[in-house]
Amino acid sequence: MGFLSFLTQEIAIDLGTANTIIIHNDKIVVDEPSIVALETQTRKLIAIGEKARQMQGKTHENIKTIRPLRDGVIADFDAAEQMIRGMIKLINSKPRLFSPALKMVVCIPSGSTEVEIRAVRDSSEHAGGRDVYMIYEPMAAAIGIGIDVEAPEGSMVVDIGGGTSEIAVIALGGIVCNKSIRIAGDGFTADIQAYMRHQHNIKIGERTAEDIKINVGSALPELEDPPTDYVVRGPNLMTALPIEIPVSYQEIAHCLDKSISKVESAILNVLEQTPPELYADIVTRGIHLAGGGALLRGLDKRLTDKINIPCHIAEDPLHAVARGTGIALKNVDKFSFLMR
Ligand SMILES: Nc1ncnc2c1ncn2[C@@H]1O[C@H](COP(=O)(O)OP(=O)(O)OP(=O)(O)O)[C@@H](O)[C@H]1O
Ligand SMILES: [Mg+2]
Repeated sequence: MGFLSFLTQEIAIDLGTANTIIIHNDKIVVDEPSIVALETQTRKLIAIGEKARQMQGKTHENIKTIRPLRDGVIADFDAAEQMIRGMIKLINSKPRLFSPALKMVVCIPSGSTEVEIRAVRDSSEHAGGRDVYMIYEPMAAAIGIGIDVEAPEGSMVVDIGGGTSEIAVIALGGIVCNKSIRIAGDGFTADIQAYMRHQHNIKIGERTAEDIKINVGSALPELEDPPTDYVVRGPNLMTALPIEIPVSYQEIAHCLDKSISKVESAILNVLEQTPPELYADIVTRGIHLAGGGALLRGLDKRLTDKINIPCHIAEDPLHAVARGTGIALKNVDKFSFLMR
């Protein structure tokens, strides 16, 4: 670190519904679940990130775990601010004599309203940001994937995160057409929770439902390389006695089918709006999948079959948006699509 970086610090933040990632000096320095644990009465911060996640669903009345973002946007302003502040503190473990001016690039969902954008800007500034720039998430994802977003060529990015699935066509440094739907990883998890309740009479928490999704989640009822059944334990809804249920990927494919169809429809909808020249580019280059949802087994194949355009999973899909935001940070003067 040079002397100047002591005066000005530069960070890029992907403030996600599920995960918050911070990039500093081209490196991922924070990668934590977007969760805080607060003291119920005083709202004092008790834990953040993974530590707070471990408390989820296990708290007593004096502790509350909160996910400050829902559906891709800030739902709890105070908790969001505490979370951003706390995450930034994780980078600077040593106390400083004076706090440096913080230059930040933060990404926002492409479907954000003025009020939602304002909320992100305000919490970033309250958390210490002096010079705050914003970038739309699909644009950041495209840059992170390595696409030349300023070229006169069309690319389609589908970012399936925790709260939102965002589909965008990008060319000449701008978003030509896009759609953002509030069906993504969290929705898949909720589908699994509801399914387990109805089908197996078992009550499970959000964390267990997510574990099922990661272990045996599937977008297709038939997989070439199928995972073995995942055993879930919990109380029977009727008797409260413990039961054990092996869950297969086939039943999860069935239970996620409706939500995945909605993502498919949204992609088709954006393709319908796409001007023909750009459409042709997309057919040639394929569609890029990013976000944690892209890791769902068989999703790339299902989308490729449905849409008839090859769908590729980005390298390291969970970090594409953050990496792109990091690249934007180094190009704030060059990238005219950044917002102040
Ligand atoms: N292997 C996997 N299979 C299926 N889903 C996964 C896998 N790994 C992570 N996920 C899901 O991906 C989601 C998190 O993805 P990501 O970090 O891209 O979201 P986010 O950026 O925080 O959310 P958003 O962009 O909507 O605000 C979670 O719902 C998580 O359960
Ligand atoms: Mg995201």
